[in-house]
Amino acid sequence: MVEKYHYIIYNSYMIYTIRKYGDPILRKKTEPVTEFDNDLKAVFADMLETMYASNGTGLAASQIGLSKHMLVLDASTEEQTIIFTLANAQVVEHSKEKTEFEEGCLSFPGITEKISRPSSIKVRANDQDGRELLIEASGFLAIVLQHEIDHLNGVVFIDRMTPIRKMLHSKELKELKNECKKSLK
Ligand code: CO
Repeated sequence: MVEKYHYIIYNSYMIYTIRKYGDPILRKKTEPVTEFDNDLKAVFADMLETMYASNGTGLAASQIGLSKHMLVLDASTEEQTIIFTLANAQVVEHSKEKTEFEEGCLSFPGITEKISRPSSIKVRANDQDGRELLIEASGFLAIVLQHEIDHLNGVVFIDRMTPIRKMLHSKELKELKNECKKSLK
């Protein structure tokens, strides 16, 4: 019998603490990315690792306390790998038609709610090297992109809830805010 060794090489990724509802940074509009250097790539890699460590599908830089216009997402399906690391992403076109989808957010643990958003969009963004991209998205990818771009503009998913649906979560929201206040002290 040949003994098999399994080598696991750990890279030195940084897993960030995710900022929760009540943290003022989530309400701040982020700064555009202008330098496309190795430091930027390292932050994108850390963001992906942080997202995977929390079982998320998307993460915006403000959620790790960094006020930069950066987002990562993994909207892969069984057929297709869809991983994006985007800087300066903006929705430039959206359909009139809307879709409702049950959304959650890593900054709002335990809360999910149906949110209505345009079903298809066009997004302009830069990749890690600063190249310009035009992304045409529909379905799940369009939802995740809009959710993350909202974050970078200081908008969170409860802002997109109908007033009645938001009211249904008022107790949980209050609790989250109180926890956050304690942790920021
Ligand atoms: Co979110």
